[in-house]
Amino acid sequence: KRVVVFISGSGSNMEKLAEACEAPDFPAEIVAVISDKPDAGGLLKAKARGIATYALARKDYDSKQAHEAAMLGLLADLAPDFICLAGFMRLLSGDFIRAYAGRIINIHPSLLPLFPGLDTHQRALDAGMRIAGCSVHFVTEGMDEGPIIGQAAVPIVPGDDADALAERILTVEHRLYPATLRRLAAGEVRMENGRAVFTNRG
Ligand code: GRF
Repeated sequence: KRVVVFISGSGSNMEKLAEACEAPDFPAEIVAVISDKPDAGGLLKAKARGIATYALARKDYDSKQAHEAAMLGLLADLAPDFICLAGFMRLLSGDFIRAYAGRIINIHPSLLPLFPGLDTHQRALDAGMRIAGCSVHFVTEGMDEGPIIGQAAVPIVPGDDADALAERILTVEHRLYPATLRRLAAGEVRMENGRAVFTNRG
């Protein structure tokens, strides 16, 4: 299966997906990395792995719609089966999502439906949570509210600040995302009627 990864920053999750895809038995290949930030560190990491990269800066387009049209045009040529958002910090419009319905996934650093949006780690600490974690979900029009495919929990320990918690969760994200992409690319899960439906093979 052909996968395009969208990033905005360091691309550590993208890198782990790329690493996983390099295994001969992995059912997907990353055919391109697209960033809305030309200076995203992840672009260099992708280039170093020989993955095609494209930077489409929002400021180069006079509207969100024009920016998305350019991304959709690029995707039409790349013909991905799936799109993985990985540290992509931009909300996609309903039109964009509908063009790839059930084929866009995202990793979010909280145990959804808790803490959608930003600053998830500080919010978890402020709420007195004893566990935190990350979620991979199908992307739907609402922010961070699509059907959940996989999750992983980590303990919050006394003395944790947002950075310590973020670091502990990122390590787990790096395992959860590749494992989830493998299941998606292998056809073990799909989105149907707005829900994640699992087909247990064998
Ligand atoms: C990660 O916490 C991820 O959950 C969120 O963006 C952060 C940075 O991701 N979406 P990356 O290092 O750019 O992959």
